[in-house]
Amino acid sequence: MKKIAIFASGSGSNAENIVKYFQQNDKIKVHLVGSNNSEAKVLDRVSRYSIPTTIFNKENLMNGDVLAILEQKQIDFIVLAGFLLKIPKMIINKYLNKIINIHPSLLPLYGGKGMYGNYVHQKVLEEGDNETGITIHFVNEKYDDGAIIFQAKCPLEDNLTIKKIAKKVHDLEMKFYPKIIENILNESN
Ligand code: GAR
Repeated sequence: MKKIAIFASGSGSNAENIVKYFQQNDKIKVHLVGSNNSEAKVLDRVSRYSIPTTIFNKENLMNGDVLAILEQKQIDFIVLAGFLLKIPKMIINKYLNKIINIHPSLLPLYGGKGMYGNYVHQKVLEEGDNETGITIHFVNEKYDDGAIIFQAKCPLEDNLTIKKIAKKVHDLEMKFYPKIIENILNESN
């Protein structure tokens, strides 16, 4: 059994989608959902699935408390799904190539600190790009910077709103993130 922890800071639509996807899988399961925000909607969403949750702050992340929980729960793989804090070196070293993130743009475009959610789509709109998409990548010590695993694109017609761009990107996230996680875990030992 491969045990996943998902870290999320906000709404948690990706987290819930991933939890649902693996519900009937007897080799891969979401065993923990962690958040740095006790008010985050993700905690509500996953409470329906009887998955343990943990709330922590930046200090817990930096001082080893979070790593201790991951080890105690024998977590094999960490999935970031709208998680806004940087993962410290201590955790990256213990989970080398076992932490992935999804970003709502075609990296290296529009990544880095402060680039999340609608800030990203706003930038795409301002630049007048004719396509955008998602990037799933390994996590290193910089924001949105690790090796790219997968990208999917969607075309952007003229006169789109931020809301419409967000919907197109969200649809790609729902379609691909769980499958890519499954592929990586099936290929790893
Ligand atoms: C997703 O669009 C994800 O790509 C983005 O946050 C959103 C979370 O939505 N992540 C980033 O911007 C990371 N830099 P959700 O909480 O509904 O899953």
